[in-house]
This record gives sequence, structure tokens and C-alpha cells, in this order.
Amino acid sequence: MSRTRLIYRSQPFGFDSAMLASILSAARRNNPQWEITGALICRHDVYLQLIEGPSASIEALYSCILNDDRHIDIRLLLKEEMDERLFPAWSMLDDQAPSLFWSADDVAKGALEAASPQDLRAPFIRLSEAHPG
Ligand SMILES: Cc1cc2nc3c(=O)[nH]c(=O)nc-3n(C[C@H](O)[C@H](O)[C@H](O)COP(=O)(O)O)c2cc1C
Repeated sequence: MSRTRLIYRSQPFGFDSAMLASILSAARRNNPQWEITGALICRHDVYLQLIEGPSASIEALYSCILNDDRHIDIRLLLKEEMDERLFPAWSMLDDQAPSLFWSADDVAKGALEAASPQDLRAPFIRLSEAHPG
């Protein structure tokens, strides 16, 4: 079965803790049945999410995410075949962005779109090492 890792970024639309809680609760309710794991890095100016799992599940979830009006300006940054999960123990780990390398100014200037696959994976690798499960 082919498996995919996908990273996108978006801009929160009306970011607050209640909205974040509702997104995370949907993720934690739905992702196990799709065999999806991942992490959501969140800050007032940016969502940076990694989702990983069976390719068909990832396509289905990403199309839901694209239609979600709680964020705007959604940009796919990386999509690749994967062997090993980075977050095997997490239906959706959340992180309030201390591990993000890019400042709000960098993000606004397009640093995420310009980042290499390795640079995009790096904050998630760090997070996964800090939260093995
Ligand atoms: C930034 C962001 C990340 C999301 N991540 C997930 C996710 O990992 N899993 C999920 O099921 N829904 C996620 N959602 C919510 C989906 O877009 C959608 O609202 C949800 O899947 C609907 O589930 P429900 O019908 O069970 O309420 C996310 C939404 C946003 C804005």
C-alpha cells in the first residue's frame, strides 16, 4: 500500500484557542480510523501541518482541509512517498510554534514556499524527537 507524507501551510482565519481545540478534537477523533498521524504547528500567523498515512486517506483529508473556512491561503509545500512515520504515536500532535524556525516576518515574505524539503521536515523531526509518544 502506498503511503504519503504531506506538509502544507495556511493562514488561520480568526485564530483563537477554541478554534484550535475544535480542529484538534476533529483530528483526534477522525485520524485513527484513516490511519493518519501527524503534527500541527500553530501560531497566530501560520498553520504548518504534517499529515502521514495511506495515500488515499491523505488525499481525502487534504481535500477536506482545503475546503475548511477556518484558514485561508493554503499552500501545499511537500508531498512525498514515505516509509517510516515521523509521528507513529500521535493522531495529531500540536505545538504552539516554539519549534518553528521562521519568524512571522519570514513567513509573510514567503520563507516556507522557498524552503527545501529538508528544511520543511526539520521542525517536524525536532518535534517528533521531543515527543516520542
Ligand atoms: C489547520 C487545520 C487542520 C486540520 N487537520 C485535520 C486533521 O488532521 N484531521 C481531521 O479529521 N480534520 C482536520 N481538520 C478539519 C477538517 O477540515 C474538517 O473540518 C474535519 O475533518 C471534519 O470532520 P467532522 O465531519 O468529523 O467534524 C483540520 C482543519 C484545519 C483548519
